[in-house]
This record gives sequence, C-alpha cells and structure tokens, in this order.
Amino acid sequence: MSEIDEIFEREPIPAHILERMEQCRKRRMLVPDERLIKRPSHIEGIRASSRINTGVLDEVAKHIKAGMTTLEIDDIVREYTNSHGAICAPYHFEGYPKSVCTSINDEVCHGIPSRLRKLHDGDIVNVDVSTIYNGYYSDASRMFMIGEVSAQRRRLVEETKKCLEIGIEAAQPWATVGDIGYAISKYARSRGYSVVRELGGHGVGLEFHEDPFVAHIGRKHTGMVLVPGMIITIEPMINAGRAGVVLDPYNDWTVSTADGSDSAQWEHSILITETGNEILTY
Ligand code: MF3
Ligand code: CO
Repeated sequence: MSEIDEIFEREPIPAHILERMEQCRKRRMLVPDERLIKRPSHIEGIRASSRINTGVLDEVAKHIKAGMTTLEIDDIVREYTNSHGAICAPYHFEGYPKSVCTSINDEVCHGIPSRLRKLHDGDIVNVDVSTIYNGYYSDASRMFMIGEVSAQRRRLVEETKKCLEIGIEAAQPWATVGDIGYAISKYARSRGYSVVRELGGHGVGLEFHEDPFVAHIGRKHTGMVLVPGMIITIEPMINAGRAGVVLDPYNDWTVSTADGSDSAQWEHSILITETGNEILTY
C-alpha cells in the first residue's frame, strides 16, 4: 500500500465530522467522498509542497521585468523547484510542454512560455505555479504588473485579487462550493467585470486536479459541502470585457478572451478547517 493510502487507514476522519457529513447527506446535500478529506499527515505533506510553491513565486517576483522572455520565467521556476527537491506539476501534464503557465494581458490562462514572447512595459502577466513534493501537490498564481501599467489594468489586477479574497472568505466549513462562486461573481459584476465560466478551481493535494470543480459563479447553498480537511484551489479568472473565451487552435492550450479584453487571475490553495480556512500557499 502507498504511504498516502496508509495514512487514510491510520488516521481516520474524526467521528464528529463523520456525523455532521451524515446529517448533510440526509438533507440531500452533495457530500464529498472520504478520500477528499485530507488527514493530518497528508496536510503536512501538502503544506511542505506549498511552502516550496510560494518560494517559487517569490523567486519569480524578484526577477520578473520588462524585456525578459516568458521562457526565462520557465527557467527560474524549474531551477528553483528542482533545487528544492521538487518537480513542476505542469511539465508533461496531459502533454503540456513547459513547467509553468505565463498568461499575458488578454490571455486568460495556460499561456505557454516561449523564447519568442517578451514582457513589455505596461503588460499584466499571470504566473501560475504548481509543485509536486514528495508526491504532494500545491497550486497558486499571482499577477505581476510590468513597469508602468495603465490605471484600467491596475484596477483589474487589484479587483481580481479582491475576488480571490472574497471567495476565500466564503469558503467556510459546512458552506458549499456554490457559496464561493456566488460571492465572487456578485462582487466581480458589481465592479463591471465578467467571470470566466469554462475553467475553475479544484480539489488539490494528492493529485493535481481532484473533485470538486470550484466554479467562480454559482448559487448559494448549492454544490458540494465544504468539509474540514478538504483542500481546494480558488482561482478566479476575471475579464474586463465579456466572459467568453477562445482556445488557441495552434497550441490547443492557451485560453484568451474572445473579445480581446484584458483578463486577470489570482490563485491560492486553501485548507478547510473546523473554524474557517487556512491559506497554504501564502
Ligand atoms: N495550474 C493550473 C491550475 O490552476 C493548471 C495548469 S494545467 C497545465 O489548475 F497543464 F497547464 F499545467
Ligand atoms: Co489550479
């Protein structure tokens, strides 16, 4: 049996949590499979992975600047990750060719680093880093503003960060995934922005992408209940214009806004606790 499976046997879900899950089931709520409830030793492993993931983003923050190519960001990410005994989760994930995603301006996500793509003064870029350490996954992304950025772009970046914070605030124990999407989309729309619907957050930790899918739109009290021990990402993609997106037909990865408007994204991996939640990727 794998170490991860042994932990599931050795560290059972506490009885009072199992009881509360049963009550939710009786009220016809969608209750997570027991394997989505991480145990203390899993959480320690995912915490260690998250610490490296945060270190990667801090390293990118130190070096990112106008004139740099996105391939140089890929090099920084891979070298820092590998020198800390970890692996870049995106590399060869479902055929993805690079170690990190770098999405500029109207690119929504999954921008592929390239020696041909330079960062220019005034660009906004999302750097999305995912790490595997000792078999445990972590996932977070930040926006970087390159040089002098327009007021509109700055506002989009800052309000998208606020969307992430509002989503995290909504991710309380025994709330639902729909509560997260409801809170984010309500705020984004109030600021005149739209929310990308096709992509979302996800469970994370023992695999790269686990259940549940965390939509950034939603209705209160719908979707899977958030049980202490779950670890999910929240990663709103917010567009300055309309919500529609298109997939790059040449590389089959990069998602951009359909109307060419700017898009921003921030992401954290969070642990649902009995009293609230904890951001693992700070
Ligand atoms: N890091 C992205 C996420 O937040 C996933 C990237 S998939 C990849 O889920 F293959 F592009 F790496
Ligand atoms: Co993610």
